[in-house]
Amino acid sequence: MQNFLSVHDVPDINRLIDSALAYKANPLKDNTLGAGKRIGLLFLNPSLRTRLSTQVAARNLGMEAIVFNVDKEGWALEFEEGAIMSGSTVEHVKDAAPVLGQYFDVLCIRTFPSLKNREDDYSELYIKQFVKHAGVPVVSLESATLHPLQSLTDLITIREAYTAARKPKIVLTWAPHVKPLPQCVANSFAQWVNAWGEADFVITHPEDYELSEEFTKGARITHDQDEALKDADFVYVKNWSTFNDYGKIYSNDPDWMLTEEKLQLTNKARVMHCLPVRRNVELSDEILDSPASLVTREAGNRVWAAQAVLAEILKGA
Ligand code: CP
Repeated sequence: MQNFLSVHDVPDINRLIDSALAYKANPLKDNTLGAGKRIGLLFLNPSLRTRLSTQVAARNLGMEAIVFNVDKEGWALEFEEGAIMSGSTVEHVKDAAPVLGQYFDVLCIRTFPSLKNREDDYSELYIKQFVKHAGVPVVSLESATLHPLQSLTDLITIREAYTAARKPKIVLTWAPHVKPLPQCVANSFAQWVNAWGEADFVITHPEDYELSEEFTKGARITHDQDEALKDADFVYVKNWSTFNDYGKIYSNDPDWMLTEEKLQLTNKARVMHCLPVRRNVELSDEILDSPASLVTREAGNRVWAAQAVLAEILKGA
C-alpha cells in the first residue's frame, strides 16, 4: 500500500480486516516492523480518537510518533497553485510538505472541509497537495470528503460483532445535530460498505440530505426511516449537512433521533456511531448506555485499523 486515502487504496478489504483483528489478538506481534521509522501526525482540526489511536498503533509497531497541531502551532499554509501570498498564509504546502517528508517516513494528515465551496472541498486539494509534494506515504486522518480509518474500523467492528450466516442488513441513518457537519463519515462508510459487498445496505435520511452518488451507488436509499430500520442488524447513526445546496442544515427534525422505540423495529440491531456524539440530540442516552451500543468497542478498534494500515505501508515501503 502506497497511501491510504480511501477504499480504493485497499486491494483486499477482508484481508485488511483479518490483519486488524490479528493485531487486536496480539498487539505487539510486529513490534519491530517500524523500528527506526518516524510517523508525523499533522492536525489542521481537533481530534481525540484518531490522534491517540494512531499514536498507539504506531508505537505497537515500534515507530516513533510525533504530533504537530498545524492549526495552532504551525505557519498558516497556502494550498493553491500559483497563489500570490500577500494575505494571511505564510508558507506554501509545496515548501512545507517536502520538508516534512525529510523528517518523517509516513505522514498522516487531518484536514476538514470548509463546507463553504463544494467544488473546492470535493477536489480534496489539501490532502492531494501533501501526496504530491511530501515524497513519503500519506495516510488520511479524515480529509474533506472521507474518513477511511473510521470506515475500516466500522467494518472491523461489524465483522467482529456479527455471527449469523446470512448477509447482515446495515442501515446508515441521518440524525439531527445543532451545526452543519461534513459528509465525510457518511460518504466513507457508504463507500466502504458498497466496496465490501457483503451486506444488504440501506441509507435513510430526510429529503434534501442526499449524499454524493459517487459514494452511495449500490445502496438502497429511502426517506422512510422506520421502513429502513425494519430487520436491521446494524444501525449506523450519523449527522451530515446538505450536499446539493452545500453545507447547510435544512431540517433538524428531532424525530430522526434513534430511540429505544425505533430500535424495536430492528433485528435486535447493534448501534454504531464514530464519536464524538451529541447525547440526546443525535442519539439518546437510553441507546448509548444500553447493551445495543457498540460505540466504545468501535472507538477501541480504531487502534487495530490504524495498526493494520501502517503495517501494510511499512511492508510496502
Ligand atoms: N471518530 C473520530 O474521528 O474521532 P476524533 O474526531 O475524536 O478523532
